[in-house]
Amino acid sequence: MSQKHAPQEIEPGMPGRREFLAKSLAGFLALNPALGRLFADDEPELGGEGGLPPGGFVMESAPGPETVINGRRCLYFGGTGYFALHGHPEVIAAGIATFRKYGCHSATSRTGFGNTPVQLELERKIADYFGTEDSIHFVSGYLDNLFLVQALKARVGAIFIDETAHFSIRDAVYSALKPVYTFKHRDAEDLALKLKQNLKAGDVPLVMSDGVFPTFGLIAPVPEFLKALEPYQGYLCLDDSHAVGVLGPNGRGTFEHFGVKSDRCFFAGTMSKAFGGHGGFIPAPKAFIDHIKATCGAYPGATPSPTPAMAASIKGLEIVKRDPQRRERLRRNVVQAKNGLRKLGFETNDNPVPIVTWALKSAEDMKRVQAELFDRGVVVALSKYVGAPAGGVLRASIFSEHTPEQIDRLLGELKRLV
Ligand SMILES: Cc1ncc(COP(=O)(O)O)c(C=O)c1O
Repeated sequence: MSQKHAPQEIEPGMPGRREFLAKSLAGFLALNPALGRLFADDEPELGGEGGLPPGGFVMESAPGPETVINGRRCLYFGGTGYFALHGHPEVIAAGIATFRKYGCHSATSRTGFGNTPVQLELERKIADYFGTEDSIHFVSGYLDNLFLVQALKARVGAIFIDETAHFSIRDAVYSALKPVYTFKHRDAEDLALKLKQNLKAGDVPLVMSDGVFPTFGLIAPVPEFLKALEPYQGYLCLDDSHAVGVLGPNGRGTFEHFGVKSDRCFFAGTMSKAFGGHGGFIPAPKAFIDHIKATCGAYPGATPSPTPAMAASIKGLEIVKRDPQRRERLRRNVVQAKNGLRKLGFETNDNPVPIVTWALKSAEDMKRVQAELFDRGVVVALSKYVGAPAGGVLRASIFSEHTPEQIDRLLGELKRLV
């Protein structure tokens, strides 16, 4: 018997298609001037790693101090595996055992049948590590900011982002259908000015920034941002992907680095960098995590991270927690690398972020140096990532597991070439 489907009533509270389109259009019109500012003519094109050899780089082992790239075992200063955990035997063993038991993933979202014991344990472990009541873990750190924006959009009137904020912040903010303004990079005075100029009476602002900016490894000036927000009772959200595990006495990230705790501050991170695992996460009070689950479409609408990758994340988190010496070694290595770079005549900050960046006179020079280093078995990035100048910058990531000799080797090779 053929069944005729009557037009379905939309669930109360869920916007219907027409309402959604009307809202999108209204949002687009409201955003238009801000869009113009964000994507001004001088906005650099989206970029990643420049200076690739023909055919690109192909990684043929787990990333670590020594990594096989294009068939050669190299001294590796690329990527973001700051504790070199991705190839750690315990992390690999946890992933393999979980793959055997659970397969690749749950093949349904968490509002279906997708709540595996591995997922729930990972979220407990994240909350424990960060000292929060609860946490949520999901398929990519790129979604961090989408989750935060969706959860906070009803409470705020406008969003303010650092002009070099990560791609994932720029992509996420428009989903709120609220006006978006940019302020000068790490400039709390400019933020205060933009708040004053653009907020309507009674509007609560949401400020979004990277905690640690990936290209130059600079830290957001959190206390100054909070001071600028004080008169408006605004929210500050940090994409802390490069800070979690690394910054703060317990490796809890940028807010811990500054000793800041506030119910108006939220942060999100990734398991894919310091922790050697995979997926994005937000540690927060239970009420906020429940609110995220109720407001962000990616919770009912996406398959969770692959289960073996979540098991790897649990193990990585355990190792970082039980072995704080790794953070100590990382800090020592960062000091050695930054001091060495200074001795070569390059300007560099002296913060504890394991990202070391320097520029040469021209893009051609940087391509040459990257290629010659690679010829000698040393890998650094020629980065055109967000926040980099058009010609890019040379960027070395420092790992806790690099030996002092390996860092000296990088500095020695550089001295020869520049
Ligand atoms: C600042 C920042 N946020 C988010 C991400 C995305 O994280 P994931 O790789 O877990 O998707 C990255 C990725 O490198 C990043 O640098």
